[in-house]
Amino acid sequence: MAFNVHWENTVELLAELSSTYLEKTMKRNLMMVGMVVASAFASQAAMADAGMDLAKAKNCLACHAVSTKLVGPAYKDVAAKYAGQKDAEAKLVTKVMKGGSGAWGAIPMPANPQVSDAEAKTLVKWVLAQK
Ligand code: HEC
Repeated sequence: MAFNVHWENTVELLAELSSTYLEKTMKRNLMMVGMVVASAFASQAAMADAGMDLAKAKNCLACHAVSTKLVGPAYKDVAAKYAGQKDAEAKLVTKVMKGGSGAWGAIPMPANPQVSDAEAKTLVKWVLAQK
């Protein structure tokens, strides 16, 4: 009897230990998954904000919006037009810096000397990622 009680207690204890261990491991795994997902979202959001902030800072949004045509085309329309075109990025970087017309109508985009080559690249990448 005494032995049985002792044995049962041990089994119980083991069961409890292993279930808390499992629970902890599972919780930790879930937390890690959650953290990875959260940081992926956060960095995507940060990238989107960086593009938007630069577009604001460089005055692009005086003539453009992401989803409506203003003076210039909506950025999501630009992205759709050049989707899948490998040389589009380089072409658009030049166009952003030097300006030009004819792709969307008669209104020309003036040159944007306030953007560096690197900034133009960042902006065009961001524009082409709009949906
Ligand atoms: C004064 C108004 C104005 C400003 C400021 C302006 N744009 Fe434009 N943008 C236009 C117009 C108008 C067009 C259409 C030109 C055309 O039809 O070829 C255009 C076209 C574009 C295109 C598509 C070009 C093509 O060939 O399809 C991109 C990309 C673009 N702009 C990005 C920018 C960025 C980035 C900035 C900020 C650095 C900026 N624009 C600032 C008016 C402007």
